[in-house]
This record gives sequence, C-alpha cells and structure tokens, in this order.
Amino acid sequence: MAKRWYQEHQRDPWRRQAKNNGYRARSAFKLKQIQDKYNLMRQGDSVLDIGCHPGGWTQVAIEVVGMGGKVVGVDLRTTEPIPGAALMVGDVMDPLTLDRILSENEGNAFNSVISDISPNLTGRYDTDQAISLELSTMALDVAVKILAPGGSFVTKAFQGTGIELLVKACRGRFSFVRRFSPIASRNASSEVYLVCKNRKPNGSINESSPIAEITTGLREIGVLSSEQEDKEETVVGFRRL
Ligand SMILES: C[S@@+](CC[C@H](N)C(=O)[O-])C[C@H]1O[C@@H](n2cnc3c(N)ncnc32)[C@H](O)[C@@H]1O
Repeated sequence: MAKRWYQEHQRDPWRRQAKNNGYRARSAFKLKQIQDKYNLMRQGDSVLDIGCHPGGWTQVAIEVVGMGGKVVGVDLRTTEPIPGAALMVGDVMDPLTLDRILSENEGNAFNSVISDISPNLTGRYDTDQAISLELSTMALDVAVKILAPGGSFVTKAFQGTGIELLVKACRGRFSFVRRFSPIASRNASSEVYLVCKNRKPNGSINESSPIAEITTGLREIGVLSSEQEDKEETVVGFRRL
C-alpha cells in the first residue's frame, strides 16, 4: 500500500509542477484552472480562503489580487506564513471564527470566498462524503454572510447524497452556478467544485440559512432523522452536540 502510494506520488505530474513553480500544494493548479475558466477573483479583490493549509490556493489568490488586494486564510491547522496573506487558525464551524475573519478585513465585505475544505478522509466513502457536505455547507453559510453583492464563491464537494441540495442552495443565492472538475483533480476522484458567481443582494430573495435549508432537505429524503427536533440542543452544522 505504502509502496503504491509512493509510486503514484512520484508519478503525479501536478505535484512535480507544483514543486517546480514554488506552490505548496498540487491543488494550486485546481484553483488556477477554475480561475482561468471562470475569472472568480480580480486584481484588488478581498478574498477569504477557507481550509487554506498548506497554502497553495492562498498563493494563487495573492497572485491574482496583487498588492492592492487582501487575502485572509483560515484552517484548523497552522499554515506557515505567506507574504501578503493574513492566516489564522480557526474552525469554520465556530461562530467566533466569522467575527475574527471580518475583523481581519476591517469589518468590510469580501469579494470572493474560495473553499477547498475537506475532512480528514477515513476511507469510508459515505462517511467522508457526508462530512464533506457539512463542511461545504458551512463554507456556503460563511460566504453568504460576508460576501458583497456580486461576489463569488467556490467550494469543493464530493459527489453523492445531498449534493443536489447544496447546488440548489447555491442557486438561490448566486445567479451563476456551475459544477467544474479541474483536470488537476485526480482521474478517479469524485470531487467536484461548485463555482458560484454574482451573489444576489441580501434580502432580494426570501433567504433562510443554507444550513437550515439543507438540513430540512436531508430530513425530507430520510438521511437525517427529525426525532430530536424539539429538544433544546446546540446545533453545529447538521450535527447536534
Ligand atoms: C485539501 S486541504 C486544502 C488545501 C489548500 N487549498 C491548498 O491549496 O493548500 C483541506 C483543508 O481543510 C481544512 N479543514 C477541514 N475542516 C475544517 C474546519 N472545520 N475549519 C477550517 N478548516 C478545515 C483541513 O485542515 C485541510 O487543511
């Protein structure tokens, strides 16, 4: 197993290219391909990078927004400093993280939220896909709270149960939504990126939180139970603490 992983790792052309170009992760090329096709970020923009460790996407975002822009990155793990970026350790599931993100941008709305957020993979697809759906929903929830009208959002998602609900929640909040699989995603990968542009102005639609909307949708298709609905509990994402 370790030998096979090592051989694949060595053969991976994107990993080699990342190393040659000074990017910290091969995933930098996924964002470059998304950016080339959809032009999500512009020079001078303020960008939030959710799940930024080790920093490949942050590096690409800084290249795009330039000196006049602002890039804030957040991750559970510590990211080594990147000149031009404000990097913080934080959990996107924690409401306090949102306050810290906003204060990094002096309370101003962001132009773009980019999220490559992904759980620690267990290897059990259903579990990984369910946690990924929850994380992507949290990323969308943060994005809709901090984006300026017209702003853009991209998030990673794994194909499977509930992804249609996530796409629908994006469609309600952005006027342009596409699924995109960058060629830098591994051939066998079931990951897809949801690319959203043109954030509709807050209040222009009857907007509930994406978490509430997707939770209801998951209950309707029988994925989440509603047994405990009435009990007083702290709800984070789809989970109850
Ligand atoms: C695929 S990696 C991101 C790679 C990054 N885009 C790059 O190019 O270097 C996914 C990241 O999501 C982070 N993550 C997972 N759950 C998180 C959470 N609840 N809050 C913040 N970050 C989280 C992980 O720690 C991990 O570093």
